[in-house]
Amino acid sequence: MQDPAFTQSLLRWYEEYGRDLPWRRTRDPYAIWLSEIILQQTRIVQGTTYWERFMARFPDVRSLAAATEDEVLRLWEGLGYYSRGRNLLVAARQIAALGAFPDTLEGIRALKGVGDYTAAAIGSIAFGLPVAVVDGNVYRVLARHYGISTPIGTTTAKKEFSALAQALLPEDRPGDFNQAMMDFGALQCTPASPACLTCPVASSCEALRTGRATLQPVKKA
Ligand code: ADE
Repeated sequence: MQDPAFTQSLLRWYEEYGRDLPWRRTRDPYAIWLSEIILQQTRIVQGTTYWERFMARFPDVRSLAAATEDEVLRLWEGLGYYSRGRNLLVAARQIAALGAFPDTLEGIRALKGVGDYTAAAIGSIAFGLPVAVVDGNVYRVLARHYGISTPIGTTTAKKEFSALAQALLPEDRPGDFNQAMMDFGALQCTPASPACLTCPVASSCEALRTGRATLQPVKKA
C-alpha cells in the first residue's frame, strides 16, 4: 500500500535530522560499498573510524584489490568477524576484474560478502535502484505505524513487511528513503522509548493511537 504522506514525512524528517555520515557525502559506489560492509556488524561510531582509515589507505577499488590479505586484516583488526575483511578483498578483486562497480542488483549481490540487505542498500544509495531495505528498524517502524501484529522472524512477516516497505519507497529517492528509515528507527522510533511527542507521523501512528508503541513489533513466541 502506498502512503505518500508517510513517505514525504520520512524524507523531510531525514533532511532535518538524518545523521551527517561521511559516506553520505559521496556517490562513489566503492565508498558506499565499504561503509555497508563495515556496518554489517559494527556500530556507526566505531564503523566511521574504520571507514575513514580504509578510505585513507585504499582510496579506490584498485588500491584495495592490490593489497595483501595480511594488510587488509591488519587494518580490519578490532572490527571482528574477520571473514568480512577477507571477503572485502575478494570482492575488491572481483570489482577490479569487472573494470567497474556493478550497477545492477544481481551484479552487486554477486560480490563476495554481499547479501540481500547489503545489495539493496548499495544499489539504492549508490545507483538509485528502487529496492527497499528491510532490517530491524524497518520492521519496528512499520509494525508500529501501521499496527501490524504479524510476529517478526516468520516468512509471512518477511513477505508482508518487504512488500509494504517496497510500496512506500519513492522511485526518485530510494537511497534517501532507505537511510531515512534506518535513522528514524535508530533516533526517533527507538525500541524502548520512542520519541512519540516529537514524531512527525504521530497523528497517523496506529500503535500510538492504541497505546501499543512499545509492544510492537510482536516477536515470535
Ligand atoms: N546501517 C547500515 N547501513 C547504514 C547506512 N547507510 N546508514 C545508517 N546506518 C546504516
